[in-house]
Amino acid sequence: MITKKQTQVLDFIKLYMAKHSYAPSLEEIKKKFKLASVSTAHYYISKLQDAGFLNKEHNQPRAVSTVKAKQTVEIPILGAIAAGQPIEAMEIPDETITITRDEIGKQGKHYALRVQGSSMIDEGIFDGDIVVIRKQEVAENGQTVVAVIDDNQATLKKLYRENGKFRLQPANPTLFPIYRDEVEVRGVVVKIIRNLESQLDQGQSRDEKYVRKIDYSWDYRGEKTKSHTHGIHTYPAMFIPQVGRRLLETYSKEGDTICDIFCGSGSALVESRLIGRNAYGIDLNPLAIFLAKAKTTPINPQKLTREYIALLDRVEKIKDKEIQRPDFNNINFWFKDKVIVKLAKLKKAIREIKDETIQNFLMVAFSETVRYSSNTKTGEFKLVRVKGDKREKHDPDVIGIFRKHAEKNIAGMTDFCRDTKKDSWTKIIYGDSSKDNGIKANSIDCIITSPPYGDSRTTVAYGQFSRLSAQWIDIFDDPNDASGVDNDLLGGRATKNLTHTLSSDYLKESLEKIAKQDEARAKDVLSFNIGLNECLKQAYRILKPRKYFCLVVGNRLVKQVRIPTDFIIAELAEKIGFTCEDIIVRNIPGKRMPIKNSPTNIVGALEETMNKESIVVLRKN
Ligand SMILES: C[S@@+](CC[C@H](N)C(=O)[O-])C[C@H]1O[C@@H](n2cnc3c(N)ncnc32)[C@H](O)[C@@H]1O
Repeated sequence: MITKKQTQVLDFIKLYMAKHSYAPSLEEIKKKFKLASVSTAHYYISKLQDAGFLNKEHNQPRAVSTVKAKQTVEIPILGAIAAGQPIEAMEIPDETITITRDEIGKQGKHYALRVQGSSMIDEGIFDGDIVVIRKQEVAENGQTVVAVIDDNQATLKKLYRENGKFRLQPANPTLFPIYRDEVEVRGVVVKIIRNLESQLDQGQSRDEKYVRKIDYSWDYRGEKTKSHTHGIHTYPAMFIPQVGRRLLETYSKEGDTICDIFCGSGSALVESRLIGRNAYGIDLNPLAIFLAKAKTTPINPQKLTREYIALLDRVEKIKDKEIQRPDFNNINFWFKDKVIVKLAKLKKAIREIKDETIQNFLMVAFSETVRYSSNTKTGEFKLVRVKGDKREKHDPDVIGIFRKHAEKNIAGMTDFCRDTKKDSWTKIIYGDSSKDNGIKANSIDCIITSPPYGDSRTTVAYGQFSRLSAQWIDIFDDPNDASGVDNDLLGGRATKNLTHTLSSDYLKESLEKIAKQDEARAKDVLSFNIGLNECLKQAYRILKPRKYFCLVVGNRLVKQVRIPTDFIIAELAEKIGFTCEDIIVRNIPGKRMPIKNSPTNIVGALEETMNKESIVVLRKN
């Protein structure tokens, strides 16, 4: 299966080879098709190789050669299909797509549709993709189908039969299923064709000041993200380790000192230690600091295992009367009484460990145990209590949960200890990155970071996510202070009015559009950007001249206005003294961070799921 553009690239390669007897280089392909980067040319080559049109000849400068054509078939593209709200089913053949017979099987008739919308993103079907459909009128439970409902409205969904009805299920956790008594099936999806061309075109067609380059090689779809100590604790919007590592390897070198100014749970810092960079991490959420320290401090695995086994022995023997129940507001709202007793015994046993680093490391598994045994919905980043019957039945095996996490974490630490570069160091600072945190001016070789996506009220509430853990593991002198964290983070306090001096046309345009609908939301957005601008200034101060600052950011929707945070950062940063050298767009595979913007107040009208993010590459002048 190859798309129009891929066919053009293949034709070019064939012609070139006929003329020169060797293949064109990636640079030549890039030049010929005016591609954004060599990696895009490489993307086309690998697609042609995957489809069997080119041979794989690795590690040679002009590493392609054509193969004998496979049996291909031309499939008509009959129009668009909604992966979102159903749209009128219209079949107007406009183009065709060529794919090899092997890819769809010999049976049946096929057609293709362009996808509109994001309701199937967890199935790997994105806006702009093309789906190949095998015509059929029946489907099995769970198949992704073209379904026509309500008098000719077509939609792409997973089909289930339930209690005599049909459920059309979106593959997107923020959207609701559609139930109908009758559904007409017009076929099942047999092939998904990612459409790099249309996305590149969309990204570049407007007359923008900056250019976004979509690069699928940054997706790391299906790769393991929990190696070493990366998986020891959940944290919202964590870095994919592969992205962190690639940025570090591209923009810094061994022995350099790097900084993550919003280090969160410390993913970039773990990668730094693994590839021999010294690292500073800064964050304003105390639980994040606790996790980042535990993740980056090597501990002898044998010693750790010994302490863990002794701990399991001790916890059995602790009597109810020996425990100290924590005292914070609403504890009985979030935990059942018998869970509180078990957690308190476990905590007492961990606190008896003399070695503080081992104690803290096992506290990380305890913190996860707190979350899983509480009455909260564990799939949410905000604190939401499970309802009625489900809560009644909730009877968590506290020690079992702890053991599962502790043992997984010890295995992760064993790998981390083995692979970490012994003479690199990590320093983690609890502080506000919009202020001077004591890092010397012009001392850092590279900054890589991922800022929050927006204010905590409408995006991720890092403080709220961390609250119960922080209260149980005594992170605050007064555990009730844990409720205040979100107010201090970027955008935590809305501005009084909408006047400002930030030098960004993109921001001005977004604020105007949002303010027309909801002034309060516009103030949240402004407050976030004022804080972010201060962070950019501090980053400028600590970075050495000519060195790189990479930010992984999401362009969120507020009141249906897409805020181009990547362009806003580029504009603000250029005013401060950076040059924006690149904006790379990557897909976020899987369900890492659905963002529900409930303030719309329309049932079912959830504003977005972010499925792309931008990597903004800045260089200090
Ligand atoms: C997207 S998360 C970073 C996640 C991190 N990359 C990881 O892998 O865990 C953003 C972080 O910014 C932190 N943050 C928000 N405002 C801050 C500020 N003013 N100063 C420092 N950190 C802040 C939040 O606490 C949160 O941990």
